[in-house]
Amino acid sequence: MMRKTGTEMEKKNNYPPENLIRLNKFLANNTNFARRKIDEFIDQARVTVNHKVVTEQGMQVNPDSDDIRLDGEKIREKTKKLYIILNKPAGIITSTDDEKNRETVVDLINIKEKIFPVGRLDYDTTGLLLLTNDGDFANKLMHPKYKVTKTYVVKLSKPLDEKHKAKLMSGIRLEGRMTAPCKIVFTNKNDFETVAISLIEGRNRQVRKMFEHFGYFVRKLHRSAYGHVTLGNLAPGQWAKLSVEEVNRFFK
Ligand code: URA
Repeated sequence: MMRKTGTEMEKKNNYPPENLIRLNKFLANNTNFARRKIDEFIDQARVTVNHKVVTEQGMQVNPDSDDIRLDGEKIREKTKKLYIILNKPAGIITSTDDEKNRETVVDLINIKEKIFPVGRLDYDTTGLLLLTNDGDFANKLMHPKYKVTKTYVVKLSKPLDEKHKAKLMSGIRLEGRMTAPCKIVFTNKNDFETVAISLIEGRNRQVRKMFEHFGYFVRKLHRSAYGHVTLGNLAPGQWAKLSVEEVNRFFK
C-alpha cells in the first residue's frame, strides 16, 4: 500500500492542515443538527462567527481560531480521533514519555494532539506500531477476545528445529500459563533461521521468550502486520494516518 507519510504531509505544509471547514459542516459535525437544519439556522440569522451574524452558507471557518456560536452558545470541536501507523526504528522506547528523557515513539510523530501507542514493542524491536487517542480502539485491538493477529519476522541465532516449531505452534507453558496456538512459517527457502510468527496474544516480550524457551536467541524482531494492516512503503521512522477503511475494518 502506498502511504502518504507524515513527513511528506509536513513538507507540503498541509499537516496539520490549516483547519478550514465549511461552517454548516462544522456545525453539523459538532451539534446534533443535520446540515439542512443548520442552513435554516443560518438563514434565520442564528449563527455568528467572531460575533458577526453570518448570512453566507458556504463560509469557511477555522475552528482553531474562530469563535462560532449558535443562538449565542459557543460550539467547540469534538475531539478528533486519530489513528496513526509508525515504522518504529530500533533503539526507541514505546512510551509517551520517559523519565530519563530518552527519545520515544511519540517524539517521532510531531503533531499537537496527544496520542499513545497501542501495546508496545521492545526497545530493539522494529516495525509496525499503531498509535491513537481512541481508548476504545486500543482496548479492542489488544484484547485477545477479538483475536487480532500480529505477525513478526524473527531472525534466530540458529536454525529452527521442526520439533520446536511444532511445539511452539500448538502452545507451550510460559511463566505458568499456556500460550495460545500460533502459526510459524519459514519465510525463505534454505534459511531456517528466519521465520514469520503470527499470534493473537501480546504478552510482555512474548515472541523472544517463546524462542528462548527452546534455547534460541532472537537476533532481530520486526513486526510486519497488525491484523489487516501492513507497513506499505513506510521507511523506518516514517509514519502515516491509517485510511478510514483500515480503521473501520477493525470495528467490524
Ligand atoms: N514480542 C516480543 O518479544 N517483543 C516485541 O517487541 C513484540 C512482541
